[in-house]
Amino acid sequence: MGDIENPAFEQEVHKKIEETNFDDVNDSDDEVEKSPDTKFDDGEIPEAYAGMPAEVLIHYSRQKKWVFGRLAGWLVILATFATLISLSGVIIAQSPPCLDFWEKSPIYQIYPRSFKDCDPALNENRQDQICGDGIGDIPGIIEKLDYLKEDLGISVVWVSPIFKSPMQDFGYDVSDYRQPDPVFGNMADLQKLIEEMHNRGMKLVLDFVPNHTSVEHEKFQNMTEDFFVWRDGEKPKNSCPNNWQSVFAVNDKGDLPAWTYHPDVGKYYYRAFGWFQADLNMYNKEVQRFLNDILDFWLDEGVDGFRIDAIGYGFEEENFRNESYIDASEPEPLFWSNLYHDFTFEYEVYTSTEKNMKYYGSYEREADFPFNFDLIPLGLSGSIKGAEVRQLIDNWMFKMPFGRTPNWVVGNHDNTRLASRIDGMTDDDKIKISKLFAQLTFTLPGTNFIYNGEELGMVDLTEQELPDECKVDIQKDSRDFERNPIPWNGDLASNYGFSTCTGKQNLPQNCNQDRCTWLPLSETAVNGLNVASQIEDEDSVLNFYKKLIELRQDESFTRGSYCRNPADESGKPEGLLRYLRTLEGGKTFEIVFNWGNSGLKFDHKNGRNIVETFGSDKNELEPYSGVILELGSIPAEYQGKGICVQRRAVRKRNNLILTSATKDERLFDFEAHFG
Ligand code: NOJ
Repeated sequence: MGDIENPAFEQEVHKKIEETNFDDVNDSDDEVEKSPDTKFDDGEIPEAYAGMPAEVLIHYSRQKKWVFGRLAGWLVILATFATLISLSGVIIAQSPPCLDFWEKSPIYQIYPRSFKDCDPALNENRQDQICGDGIGDIPGIIEKLDYLKEDLGISVVWVSPIFKSPMQDFGYDVSDYRQPDPVFGNMADLQKLIEEMHNRGMKLVLDFVPNHTSVEHEKFQNMTEDFFVWRDGEKPKNSCPNNWQSVFAVNDKGDLPAWTYHPDVGKYYYRAFGWFQADLNMYNKEVQRFLNDILDFWLDEGVDGFRIDAIGYGFEEENFRNESYIDASEPEPLFWSNLYHDFTFEYEVYTSTEKNMKYYGSYEREADFPFNFDLIPLGLSGSIKGAEVRQLIDNWMFKMPFGRTPNWVVGNHDNTRLASRIDGMTDDDKIKISKLFAQLTFTLPGTNFIYNGEELGMVDLTEQELPDECKVDIQKDSRDFERNPIPWNGDLASNYGFSTCTGKQNLPQNCNQDRCTWLPLSETAVNGLNVASQIEDEDSVLNFYKKLIELRQDESFTRGSYCRNPADESGKPEGLLRYLRTLEGGKTFEIVFNWGNSGLKFDHKNGRNIVETFGSDKNELEPYSGVILELGSIPAEYQGKGICVQRRAVRKRNNLILTSATKDERLFDFEAHFG
């Protein structure tokens, strides 16, 4: 760098030097070391200037105006900070919480014996013989995960019990809660299932049966003290301890006491269901721990949630008093259905909505939701009325505790398949009604369930397909009919793609059928009622489900209000049902149904048809058909007090009936809930 040659700059420097009063500058060592506490006489206070020494600075900074100034500054900073924190809190509290996995996807129920028997060709290294044995299994489920995820769009699967079991109630009689039954596969299969599901972004919900164990469970075999409900017989005949009856009606004779005498113990054990399903004594802390440990075990394995079986039977009244008759004049024998179950059955499913609501529990605990089975009886009377459906929806929606999630079940392994529910329907009508039910449960707020096969419009087995001597269910009103295996294609020779089994196997003793699958497949499979054909057919029930699953992702469906239409209260026309799903700032949909068997005029409002079950002429719905319309705004008829409810999710962690539990979040305190 050369010398500075800037005359203007030099002049400026000289001017500054001349102006500077060097007397004011603390340049002596003494001065610099002066204590900062130095007091100045008023006369000698120097003017404030840039670069002043510490004692001068402190002098100024202690002046009241600066002290208060600083304090005020700090207060402003603190207040701003506090305001920001509270604002964030308010925003978080007000904003809709993230939806849990069971709120985002319908839940698909797999009845494992009937879903898919694994293909030996795809499982060559297996040592066991489960592939091609005519019974569905875990590797079979893995084979079909892509179907569930890609062809349907499902992310959550609940699998009915796959644990070790003598299979007298096909898995609802568990003899080892920590092992899959060999008929379904092994632990490695289950771990693979979890891994494969998680890789696909899917969640696994297991069935958990805490009310009873199989009598083959080691706790029962070892007579572990107080684990089960033991009572002395009634004197003098040592007859049953009381009149409690078993839920399972196994024959016409009645005489189905809920007690079974155990000669080795000299006492009766209580069993609400089959004689082979001994009720656990849930009051016993050891039992509670035993159950908790099982849940922990599966959570550690990576399972995402549980469906809890028969929880309403968990705690029997300890007074053991007789239950009273509903109709005392009804002739003997006594059936479970003729008793009030005040002492043996605390609410649970298939009970009044009010009682069911208690399962939602308090803020912190209990279930994500209790099953809503209210829609299941629809159609059993021979027809469905719009007003009836509406009343069932409103009943749940308006009674549900604030902030909780509704749910809708139209079928499961214990109930007639919905396509078979209305007598006398043509095959065509069955397809229509299947779609209409899907339109209903997919467009209502909350979670909906699909029982495997419902997505095909599957029907029950017929009496011809399953004569008495071929039935395998323990119950007199056999549930085999609705447990028929899934037809994966239309090829009868390959058991419709369900199993590669051959010859005669899996047949009850007197059954003369020529088959190897544990239950027959429905013959309707040849007529397009199978997965492969329906994937190809754009108008199939399956593709209708797929469309609805996609549509259901719209926030108006996952978060929006449900609004009923007051005009429908008249119940006229009979088949009509309408409701709105709408979200502020989002879309508005009107969902219209004709549940009746004749055509129905309705006001189309020039909406945009999003989905229609049967090519509806603009203002008319064919029998058993419906339409989902997107509207530009909320129609006047829907505006009014109390017409709409919004399911406002609250942040909450819990888990009983279905849960998103992780180990740490889970609270499973039986006594606190039900004791
Ligand atoms: C309810 C289940 O859904 C049913 O299949 C079973 O038989 C009973 N609980 C007994 O576990």
